[in-house]
Amino acid sequence: GQSRIGVTGLAVMGANLARNIASRGVAVAVHNRTGSKTTEFMSEFGGEGDFTGTQSLQEFVDALETPRRIIVMVKAGKPVDSVIDELTPLLDKGDIIIDAGNSHFPDTVRRTAECEANGIRFMGVGVSGGEEGALLGPSIMPGGDPEAYAEVKDIFESIAAVVDGTPCVVHVGPGGAGHYVKMVHNGIEYADMQLIVEAYDLLTQVAGLDAHAIGTIFEEWNTGDLESFLIEITGKVLAKVDEKTGGPLVDVIVDQAGQKGTGTWTAIDALGLGIPLTGITEAVFARGLSALRAERAAAAKTLAGPTPAKKADESLVDDIRQALYASKVVAYAQGFAQMRAASVQNGWDLHLGEMATIWRGGCIIRAQFLNRIRDAYAEHPDLDNLLMVPYFTEAVANAQDAWRRVVVTATEQGVAIPAFSSSLSYYDGYRRERGPANLIQGLRDFFGAHTYQRVDEEGAFHTRWAQDGTEVRTD
Ligand code: 6PG
Repeated sequence: GQSRIGVTGLAVMGANLARNIASRGVAVAVHNRTGSKTTEFMSEFGGEGDFTGTQSLQEFVDALETPRRIIVMVKAGKPVDSVIDELTPLLDKGDIIIDAGNSHFPDTVRRTAECEANGIRFMGVGVSGGEEGALLGPSIMPGGDPEAYAEVKDIFESIAAVVDGTPCVVHVGPGGAGHYVKMVHNGIEYADMQLIVEAYDLLTQVAGLDAHAIGTIFEEWNTGDLESFLIEITGKVLAKVDEKTGGPLVDVIVDQAGQKGTGTWTAIDALGLGIPLTGITEAVFARGLSALRAERAAAAKTLAGPTPAKKADESLVDDIRQALYASKVVAYAQGFAQMRAASVQNGWDLHLGEMATIWRGGCIIRAQFLNRIRDAYAEHPDLDNLLMVPYFTEAVANAQDAWRRVVVTATEQGVAIPAFSSSLSYYDGYRRERGPANLIQGLRDFFGAHTYQRVDEEGAFHTRWAQDGTEVRTD
């Protein structure tokens, strides 16, 4: 018989996704550009389910029932375009190409139009959860033609992670919406990780604790409001003993973070939308700073600053937990505000509560916390900012004294906390009815006649700064 779905690209993510689908009793055709990979896959996993191994794309396409459903799981960028180009002449009208990699959403928008011109339905689908998620249940963020989604919905729902009986997959929106939401997911993943490492740095530098002790603290934090996959694995990574030195593994890992681009895309997109996205953007900048390893080594010998105390203090540990939680609330508030702005701009009609729902399981940022966000949007679908619902308003109100103490202490002791402190500044800026931008407007009007508005009268005004200093209406 013919296979219901195909997967091309059998690196670990594609292979695991194919195995997950087959484990649900679905017949899967598999293909890889380098045929030996397919042979290996078949000999290793072929017995797990109803797989058809294929060596050529023609053979692959012929093995699929119509409309063909083809998952492409190759490296984001050019490889996706190559696969589409090669598949296109072999496909029939109405066949569906599903790009399940971390593609940049503008590419997805372009590919959707290109495929449509050839009668092919294209879907850009975010898949989160790493290797294990792909195999056992990822969070899936499908974007594209809803009718095409209807053709794969049952398969996606059967392979996704499940939380409280609800699969972690929902049709996100048209065109690039799925990959957009996956991009913001990754941005939030960056912010979450940056907040974790700032807490780790404070516990090391200010409280003077070792990796093992900090691992225990994270383990404990994982039983409260912070409970999440990333907090859980932080405990595990910190507890790991290095086989070579016998000390903590983290102490021998180079302090230079890699990145594949999704965090940067999120930050750039926020700048374009005019959405303050301090948490995620600081996280991207912090990775950039971490990469300047040689410069930092020189600066460490040259630039002045206080030496951190390295002295344990019970109340400090709990202050850091609260600062982490409050900053996390801000980072999510910002990320969701960004998705809302993008939804309006692109006409996607994103349901933000559903995004929180499908992120509760399977994905890297999975957390209890997302239930609170889901509740918030259930009550207020058009919420401007998550900070404004009582649950989060109170959570930050309760944490703010500790949060401020942490920012003060870190600043006094010379420990960099870009995400903690910028999140606090965002919070303090956001809750100001009248900020200081009046002066920016005055300056802009002075040097460029850019005009300003008055608080006491409608209209646009300009002061003739260089002439007689009088004010004129310009509208
Ligand atoms: C996921 C992850 C996954 C990948 C990140 C890593 O949701 O499963 O986000 O997509 O591990 O893209 O990103 P960096 O290499 O940029 O840290």
